[in-house]
Formats: sequence, C-alpha cells, structure tokens
Amino acid sequence: MKARVSVHRDFRIGRIDDRLYSAFIEHMGRAIYGGIYEPGHPQADENGFRKDVLKFVQDLKIPAIRYPGGNFVSAYRWEDGIGPRDQRPIRLDLAWRSKETNQIGINEFADWAQMAGIEMMLAVNLGSRGLDDARNFLEYVNFPGGTTLSDLRRSHGAEKPHGVKMWCLGNEMDGPWQIGHKTAVEYGRLANETAKAFKGFDPTIEAIVCGSSNDGMPTYPEWEREVLEECYENVDHISLHKYFGNNSRDTLNYFGKIEETGRYIQTIAGVIDYVKAKKRAKNDVSICFDEWNVWYHIREEDGKRIKSWDWPEAPALLEETYNFEDALFVAGLLNEFIRRSDRVRIACIAQLVNVIAPIRAEKNGPAWRQTIYYPYQFASLYGRGVALNVAVDCPTYDCNAADDVKYLDVAGVYDEAEGMVTLFVLNRHLTEAADLDVSLTGFSSATLDLHLAMAGYDLRVGNGPDQPDRVVPVPGSGVGVEDGALKGSVPALSYHVLRLK
Ligand code: AHR
Repeated sequence: MKARVSVHRDFRIGRIDDRLYSAFIEHMGRAIYGGIYEPGHPQADENGFRKDVLKFVQDLKIPAIRYPGGNFVSAYRWEDGIGPRDQRPIRLDLAWRSKETNQIGINEFADWAQMAGIEMMLAVNLGSRGLDDARNFLEYVNFPGGTTLSDLRRSHGAEKPHGVKMWCLGNEMDGPWQIGHKTAVEYGRLANETAKAFKGFDPTIEAIVCGSSNDGMPTYPEWEREVLEECYENVDHISLHKYFGNNSRDTLNYFGKIEETGRYIQTIAGVIDYVKAKKRAKNDVSICFDEWNVWYHIREEDGKRIKSWDWPEAPALLEETYNFEDALFVAGLLNEFIRRSDRVRIACIAQLVNVIAPIRAEKNGPAWRQTIYYPYQFASLYGRGVALNVAVDCPTYDCNAADDVKYLDVAGVYDEAEGMVTLFVLNRHLTEAADLDVSLTGFSSATLDLHLAMAGYDLRVGNGPDQPDRVVPVPGSGVGVEDGALKGSVPALSYHVLRLK
C-alpha cells in the first residue's frame, strides 16, 4: 500500500492543552486499595504507597488526575475520608457493591498526587448530595485557613490548601444506573448553581459539567443541549465518556471506532456552538473527555460476579488484560484526540492502576505495564506542542463503525521550544506494509532523531506478571529522511513514533 503524507509547518490545528494526557482513578476494585496503596507490601513506603507503581506512574508524566469517581462519587461522603484513620467509618459503596474503608481520603490522595507530580481534578457528589456539601468540600480543600472547614483541614495535617482548580460537577448524571440520576434540566440547573457558587469562591476555577456517558445513550445528544442551556455561561468544559471493545473480533471495525469517536466529538462541538449562539454567550466551552479506554475483555463476567457477591473490600474488578491489538487501538484513539485538540482540551485515560488500567499490580506481588501503557506514554511525552493538520492520502476501507477509514492513521505535533516534530503513525492494514512518502514542508532540513516501534506481535498477546515485557516498544528501522522527505516502509499492524529534529 502506498501512503503519501504531507506535514507542513504552517498547517496547524492549534496548541494542545497538556491536560489532553490526563488520567482517572476511582475508589473501586483494587485501583486505590491494592493499587497505589498497599501497606505491608515490600515496595510500600512509610505511608503505604507502592513505590513500584508510583515509578510507573511518574514515567507517564501525567498532567492531571480525576478523583475519586466515577460512579463511586455519586454516593460518596467526602468527610468520611478525613481525620484520624482509626475513626473513619466503613461504608457500603453502592455503585460497586463493595465496602469502602476510607483509609484513603482527600489528604492522603493529595500526598500521593504530589509525589507523582500530578495536579488533582476533583469530582463532587451531585447524585445523593448537592450544592452545600460540594461547597463545603471546596472550602475544606482550597481555603487557606481561618474558617471552621479550612482549619479542620489544617488540624488534619494539611497546612497548605490543595489549590485544586478543576472541579467535575458529578459523574454520568445521564445514566439511569447513577445514584441520584437526574433529567437533563434537573441536572443542568443544579450544575449551574454549583458552578456559580464555586466561581463565587474562586473565579479561576474550571467547572466541568457532565455530558453523555457514551454516544449510544438514548438521550444523546439532546442531553448536552438541555444541560448546556441551563449552565453554559458558568461552565468551562463538558465531559464525555466512551469505552471500547472488539467483542466481534473484527479488527478493522474495532479500529474504525477511532473515527466514530471523532464524530462523537464533532457532534458535541456542534451542540456547544449551537448553545453558545443561542445564548449570545461570550465564553467558550471545551470538551473534557474524562473517561476513555478499552473495556470489554472481562466486562460481562464482572457484571455477573458483582450481582452475587457479598460486599467485599477492594475486590478484583475490571482487571482487564490488554493485548497488542488494544495497544494499536489506543495509539489511534490518542491520534484522534490530537487531531481534535482544538475542541478537546482535557482527556483522561480510565483508569490508571488495576481497574481498566495501563498499570497492574498484584497483591504482595509485582507491578507491570500493560500493552496500552506505551502509546499513552509516548503521546504524553512527545505529544505536547502544536497539533499539525497532517494530510494523508492512502487506501481506505468501510466498516460498521465508519466509512472511508484510512488504513494509515497519522497525527503530528510540533514542539516549537525543542524544534521537534513528532509523527505518530499507525498502520491498521491487516496484511500490507505502508510505503511511506512524507513531505516535510518547512521541516525539510530535519533528521530522524528517534524511531520507536511496536510491531510484529500476535494481536492477542499481552503482558502479565510472569511476562511483563512481552509486548514492548523497540527501536524502529526501515524509515529515514531523504531529500527533505521521510521515506520507508512500516509493516502491517504496527505503530511508530517518529521524532524529527
Ligand atoms: O470507569 C469505570 C466506570 O465507568 C466509572 O465509574 C463510570 O463513570 C463509568 O461508567
């Protein structure tokens, strides 16, 4: 297959918000307990945080992390997680039919996030609770001192306020499964009043209102219109969620879901523009895609188990083992986020450790990086700067998810400070290599500085505790710069990071 690609210094989509490479972690399964925190583990520090897991997290250079849920947040009492640990209540977590011990709360999580070098993005409970509890939480977290709630925080050892700027107003409020599920108008009004109160406290806060839980919801995309009509002027982002899978074992259709996601983003961008025009609003609202990932390998099995179990503490839940095909999919999805970064400012891989996660950790055992860890890491490390409008001319295919899907998926990012251009190249073709001819207008004197590749693995293989490095990136070959163009061949079903300087 021949693939002609044009990368031009002046064809720009816009500056990427670094927070496009954020993550999400929830109090569920073994994400927190048994994931980032396992006192007694040989790798645990004096506060019980696993150093092996922390190192894998640090290596991802994650800008922001959404916490503490997820469905969990919709019945969460934040006060349960503060103060002396031995006095904290054990509660039923209604979302995941488990017991929550509250041994980690906001202050411990803030300590961990600081060690990991990640900014917190907090969600408030607008399911079972409302505006008052949300504003109390904000005051406890962010006010310096001299009020009852801020002094309470200081008495808990957190002398300085946590300075959290990103606040999610509930979670998936369109979902009938959500505790405290509401209609769009009910929720939109509550979100508006909460956002107003938060901005009254600190106008620099960024408020994130709930959009659809996925683009298959019966209320999509009317939900977004109705919600935004209630709160547009007081919010900064609208959140979208979507999880992916290949149940039908149709690889090309799976990869076509990348384009389907582009349509999802485009549709919501249209709804945002419509509401902005209708309201004659001055502010912009962007998309915060704050839950995305592959979730299908053990979804059905988990669904059955959870119904019958007896409220366990930190049970293994949603512990998906990812394969090479999933890594290729994630690479393409990140390319789509880069291409849509003019509308998507924040995106969060869901989740980070053990639960549908790039990092896994065994109880009393090792931690390892799953296949999807690597494309996520490369996007985070090398995908900062200006998104380029890359033109690709190559054969296409049609599938259930989308038509005219290009076999070659390319995103480009120009890091002006470093003078580097990075191309993220995914060849989705099942059997054919792509003969690349990439014209580099404006970058013609560039040389290939780095080539990393993930190629040649069976689509179904992944990593595990016994074979943690079975699927890993290796130095790539077969591509080089000749006469101001990048030329070479990339094999079928492969992913490449090409850095030019
Ligand atoms: O990430 C797992 C769950 O998926 C989250 O709790 C919820 O928001 C979504 O449905």
